Amino acid sequence: MIDNEVLKAIRERRMVFKFKDEPVEDEKLNAVLQAGYWSESFGDCEPWQFVVIEDQKLKKELYELTKRVTIYTAGIKNAPITVAIAITGCGTSHYIEEGAVAAHNMALAAHSLDLGAYWLDVYDLENKKGSVESEAKKMLGLPEDIRLTYLLPLGIPDQKREETRAKLDDVVHYNKFGNE
Ligand SMILES: Cc1cc2nc3c(=O)[nH]c(=O)nc-3n(C[C@H](O)[C@H](O)[C@H](O)COP(=O)(O)O)c2cc1C
Repeated sequence: MIDNEVLKAIRERRMVFKFKDEPVEDEKLNAVLQAGYWSESFGDCEPWQFVVIEDQKLKKELYELTKRVTIYTAGIKNAPITVAIAITGCGTSHYIEEGAVAAHNMALAAHSLDLGAYWLDVYDLENKKGSVESEAKKMLGLPEDIRLTYLLPLGIPDQKREETRAKLDDVVHYNKFGNE
């Protein structure tokens, strides 16, 4: 089997939901942000705006708010840093994909630096007033025309998850679905 550092990191990255009460080094945070900013985007429009949230009171408020839309939110207040991934969109409707690509690149980069991360979806498909997305944007001072896609708690892992995947043969098909 061909193997290298990138393939190994992709294979071994697991989402981390529990974090040590220790800070993230600035250099590592910077490398994770760089990984987000080097993501691909529709029309190469570089639509990201990252808000690095370190303020404990703000993290606690975001934690309380996001309980409305997703199950495991404790990482927001427990991780030393939560990065909000916002997308300007450049007039396209690809904000979810663009946020997701950046979130994944950042989680992978975090793993390669012995950090851990996971992502929580906060976007509201209908972009309604009063939604978690809209309330979180107000808390973070984000303009109305920017979409807030994901929150990425980031820190030093305090757990080791060993989850694996289904067999590759069960999910790959050649020419037509089904492998008879
Ligand atoms: C698009 C997407 C959205 C996710 N949203 C959440 C979320 O809102 N809350 C959460 O706890 N985990 C979220 N996750 C993390 C997944 O639950 C996690 O990827 C899954 O448990 C597999 O973890 P593993 O890759 O470490 O095996 C999300 C992951 C993806 C790819």
